[in-house]
Amino acid sequence: MTGTTENIKNQYRAIEAVKAITEHTSIVLGRPLYYHVTTFGCQMNAHDSEKLRGILEEMGYVETDTEDCDFVIYNTCTVRENADKKIYGRLGRLNGFKKKNPHMMIGLCGCMMQQKEVVEKIKKSYPFVDLIFGTHNLSEFAVLTRKVFEDNSAVVKLLDGDNSGLLESLPSKRKYSFKSGVNIMYGCNNFCTYCIVPYVRGREYSRSPEDIMDEVKRLGDDGVIEIMLLGQNVNSYGKTLDNPISFAELLRRVEEIDAIKRIRFMTSHPKDLSDELIDVMASSKKICTHLHLPLQSGSTELLKRMNRHYTKESYIDLAEKIRERIPDIALTTDIIVGFPGESEKDFEETMEVVDRIGYDSAFTFIYSKRTGTPAATMPDQVPEDVCHKRFDRLLELVQRKARERALRLEGKTLPVLIEEKNREKGLVTGRLSNNSTVHVRAGEENIGKIVNVSLKECKGFYYIGDLAD
Ligand code: 5AD
Ligand code: SF4
Repeated sequence: MTGTTENIKNQYRAIEAVKAITEHTSIVLGRPLYYHVTTFGCQMNAHDSEKLRGILEEMGYVETDTEDCDFVIYNTCTVRENADKKIYGRLGRLNGFKKKNPHMMIGLCGCMMQQKEVVEKIKKSYPFVDLIFGTHNLSEFAVLTRKVFEDNSAVVKLLDGDNSGLLESLPSKRKYSFKSGVNIMYGCNNFCTYCIVPYVRGREYSRSPEDIMDEVKRLGDDGVIEIMLLGQNVNSYGKTLDNPISFAELLRRVEEIDAIKRIRFMTSHPKDLSDELIDVMASSKKICTHLHLPLQSGSTELLKRMNRHYTKESYIDLAEKIRERIPDIALTTDIIVGFPGESEKDFEETMEVVDRIGYDSAFTFIYSKRTGTPAATMPDQVPEDVCHKRFDRLLELVQRKARERALRLEGKTLPVLIEEKNREKGLVTGRLSNNSTVHVRAGEENIGKIVNVSLKECKGFYYIGDLAD
């Protein structure tokens, strides 16, 4: 028996052991035991949380929408400092719930927990936390939970090996039955100088195409029609495999799976985006017309200091080439304002790129100093008030451009995957291939289906439409 198989068995044994405990407690309390998983950060975390939910359900817990319950997990993010602060603030509130409910378990996982200083601080100042585990130990969640129950003491498990391959064999509770994320790679090797991800998520590692295809086929058999291939830099997928294959080739293979109707992916690094990928996207019927292409800055000088390996000009050329080959494509981006040394002229260059490209939407961030990254010790950190002023100017431009782009589609009829009911009666909400949101005057029976919708009105960042069939 391989180590992996034995490990999977251990996880399932632990699930059964915890289930016996929850069943017993539930009888004593005369009610089910409830859980809540709160996710911070990116799509990868959202996907990891589906695993945690799947395992918690197998352990006999029932999902609830409040954190005042029997098992709360925070799946954390640490990309920016305020993400960390948010967690510390919320932990105090959880302690209040725990004082009323001695059965309550509190677990912390995700990127923030990959840092030693953070874990030390939590152990010291928040001793009521029962379980801390890192991104590399997610697949051991069941065994670790069992240990907390059996030893009746807190458990911390971090960075010891990488069990990510195991994760796919464990239960999962998808938020949507008809769409799912699929991890194709883990970690990041790029070391952008502002970013903490390579330090917490570790080195880049691609899953084998066979494993990915097996998972996508299984999802397709289970009713999934849209998949999102996930990785910090999907464009470098497969380069380090024993039998290297390109990301474009992986897309070609996934496209052949009949049940899958839409394919998305996230995130692309401009330095690795190949012509082969553009060709595959241009000729594909299933790959969605959306590309997230983080710019970070429009100043070549700053890009160099960010260690991004492209220039203002090469980025613009790339974006224009993509728009030319795939005219319907929605381009979205990430931009950082106030990177150390950012001058007014550097910032103007970012504004110029945004004005020229006209993104369909953009995430804009104020630079956040992350201890341990090269940028944290760079001279000329930009004062906060300057950052805020630049941020507001950028946001105004980004939004004006995005509104202009969105108007192009008003009056058109396009396929929409209906995802959920809307708070407003008589409306359901879905997404275009380009990822824009559409509220459709239609019934809930359309949820999970791709339907043609006439986009009657553009409301800036979303559309209101009617069924066209
Ligand atoms: N400060 C601000 N934004 C950051 N990002 C990553 N690190 C930082 C940081 N230290 C942003 C980048 C990245 C996105 C996921 O988060 O724009 O693309
Ligand atoms: Fe961070 Fe750069 Fe890696 Fe993205 S590519 S995760 S910004 S280091």
